[in-house]
Amino acid sequence: MIDLHCHILPMIDDGAASLNEALAMARFCATDGITHIFATPHCHKYVHLLRDTILPHVVLLNEQLKIANIPVTILPGSEIQVTDTIEYRREFEAGVYCHLGDRKDFTLLEFNWACDQFPSDAAELVRWIRAQNMTPILAHPERYDYFWKDPAKLQALVDAGAWVQVTVDSLIGNHGPLPKVAGEAMLRKYPEAVLATDAHNMSRCSGMSAGYAWVREHLGPARSDDLRIRAESVLASAITAL
Ligand SMILES: [Fe+2]
Repeated sequence: MIDLHCHILPMIDDGAASLNEALAMARFCATDGITHIFATPHCHKYVHLLRDTILPHVVLLNEQLKIANIPVTILPGSEIQVTDTIEYRREFEAGVYCHLGDRKDFTLLEFNWACDQFPSDAAELVRWIRAQNMTPILAHPERYDYFWKDPAKLQALVDAGAWVQVTVDSLIGNHGPLPKVAGEAMLRKYPEAVLATDAHNMSRCSGMSAGYAWVREHLGPARSDDLRIRAESVLASAITAL
């Protein structure tokens, strides 16, 4: 299995606090059946991690995983928060962002939790990214109260070509009742979805198998397989670059 959203790089953002914690998370993931993890540290106005910083950290962690004999491969990425679409486009065009796999096929976006920070032209930005032949994947839309209150906001982003990434912890109830309900509704509504963990540490490290098991039970095995295949297509696009 593949995890497309994970804060496993140690001591770089609010994810793994030490190398030991990163290795413990990787060990847990390997036991869960995860073979590839996209490391997606934050890129927002407080922790603004760019590819020049992220890529060497990915190399270092892969070296440590080999030494520790943990059969997991880390791929580069980042979770880019969009509040100002002009600034986003400027940095995008400057080539400083670390998209998934450090490629130009998929990128992981998030929005601020505050509704007033949600860009009014977010759907236009999604269309612009698609016009660059890249697919934006929206991190944890099920966790935003403004998407619960105004589903048309998310619908506009999906109509513009974004995929949605639902979080395993939401589906299994670890983020409370509302993200769980919203996560299920989004998986029912939007075909182009993926699952990921958004793991930050050992107490927030769900693995992927619990998510796929939940989907198999509630939405059927075909949907579970479909979600896995879509995640594998993101990995395939990244691996062709290696
Ligand atoms: Fe995240």
